[in-house]
Amino acid sequence: MSTAPLNVQAYRASLLHFHADPAFDERAHAWHEDGLLVVEDGKVKAAGDYARLAATLPPGLEPVDYRGKVITPGFIDTHLHYPQTDMIASPAPGLLPWLETYTFPTERRFEDPAHARSTAEFFLDELLRCGTTTAVVYCTVHPGSVDAFFEASEARGLRMVAGKVLMDRHCPDFLRDLEGDLGQSEALINKWHKRGRSLYAITPRFAPTSTEAQLKLTGELAAQYPDTFIQTHVSENKDECRWVGELFPQARSYLDVYERYGLMRPRALFGHCIWLDDEDFARMAATGSAAAVCPTSNLFLGSGLFDFERADGAKALLSLGTDVGAGTSFSMLQTMNEAYKVARLKGSYLPALRMFYLATLGAARSMRLEDSIGSFAQGREADFVVLDPKATPLMERRTSHCNSLEELLFALALLGDDRTVEATYSGGNRVHGRGK
Ligand code: GUN
Ligand code: ZN
Repeated sequence: MSTAPLNVQAYRASLLHFHADPAFDERAHAWHEDGLLVVEDGKVKAAGDYARLAATLPPGLEPVDYRGKVITPGFIDTHLHYPQTDMIASPAPGLLPWLETYTFPTERRFEDPAHARSTAEFFLDELLRCGTTTAVVYCTVHPGSVDAFFEASEARGLRMVAGKVLMDRHCPDFLRDLEGDLGQSEALINKWHKRGRSLYAITPRFAPTSTEAQLKLTGELAAQYPDTFIQTHVSENKDECRWVGELFPQARSYLDVYERYGLMRPRALFGHCIWLDDEDFARMAATGSAAAVCPTSNLFLGSGLFDFERADGAKALLSLGTDVGAGTSFSMLQTMNEAYKVARLKGSYLPALRMFYLATLGAARSMRLEDSIGSFAQGREADFVVLDPKATPLMERRTSHCNSLEELLFALALLGDDRTVEATYSGGNRVHGRGK
C-alpha cells in the first residue's frame, strides 16, 4: 500500500549539474555517480547521492530506476527559428543567398495560422526528443506565428522564449513591417510575457533589415520592458558585415549599431558573434549581453569559426544555439560535437564539461534565468533529461570503458543525438520518452 504523496517523485541515476563555469572554476560541477533527484510540485527538492537521500523519501515512494543513465538539467538552446523547420538542410552558397532563396519564401507561409500551429507542434516535439526543454525562438513577422508558438508551448507547460521578427527594409514586401509601428510587438509582450512559463523576446532580425527608425523604436521598447529578452544576429558572415558597414558608416562595428540603439543589455542574446573584436567582446561583458554560439549553422553556411578564447578573455556570457534551419541538427549534443571541432580549428580546446555547462547553467545565466532553470539547486524548475550512454551499439561499446567523467561526457557529446535521450521532463512531467 502506497502512502507517498502524489506531488513527490524521485529518480535514481547518475546526476550531473553545475553551480559555476568550469572554464573559470575547478569545482564548478556536481557529479553523483549513484544519485537521486527528488522533485516536489514540479520543482527540485533535492539532488545528491542516493545513499544520503533515499532515507529522506516519503514512505512508500519508489524512485524511478534510471540506473546506468545520466540525468542533467534540460538543455537550453539559445538561438533557433521554428518557422525554418521545413527548410533545414537547404543548400546555398552562404547566408545572404540562403535568406533570399529559402528563408523568406518559407517564412511567408506563416501568414496561415494553421501552418504556424502544425509547425510549432512538430518543432516542440523535435526539441523534446532532443532533450531541449527551453529555447529562445524566432517566429516570423506575423503576430499569429507568435500566438501559435506560445499556445503550443503553454499547452505542454514548457519554459520558452519567443518573439515576432521585426523587419522593415531589405526584405520582400510580403514580410515587411509598417515603418514606425511596434504596436504588434508591444501587444504580444502584454499578452505573453510571463504568462505561465512563456517569456517574450523583442526580435529585430538583424541590422540590415531594420531602418534606423525601427531600431530606435526597438531600443525604446526594450527600455520600456527591461525584463523582456532581445534576440538578434550579429557578425555572422563577412558579406553581411561589409553590408552593415555600408549601411551604418557612423558605427564603430556591427555590434556597435545595436549598442547605439540601446539593444545591448542583460537578457540580450546575440546570435553568432563570429567576427567580433576585443572591444566588442568587452562591450558584451560590460553590458551583460550574451553570445549564442551556433556551430552547426556556421559550418553549414561557411560563416566562420567562433573564437572561444577571445570571448573567454573578456568573460563574455556564452551559450549554445542550434540555429535551425541554418543549423543542421536540433540536438544540443550534436551542437556540442561541432562546437568542439570549431574550438579545435581555432587552436583552442573545449572540454566536454564546459560544453554541458554551456548547454545548461551557462545558457540560464546568459538569460538571467539561473534562479529558475539550468541546474538542480533546490527550488529550480524540474526540467531535466535522461541520457543513455548505451543508446547505440557504438556508444555502448565506447562508453563501457571510460576512465573519467570527462571521457564519458565527451563520448555523449561526440556520438550522441536524439537517440541518446531516453526521456525528457518539464516541470516534473515526462514530456518525451523513448520506448516504454
Ligand atoms: N541573419 C538574418 N536572418 C537570419 C536567419 O534567419 N538565419 C541566420 N543564420 N542568420 C540570419
Ligand atoms: Zn538565426
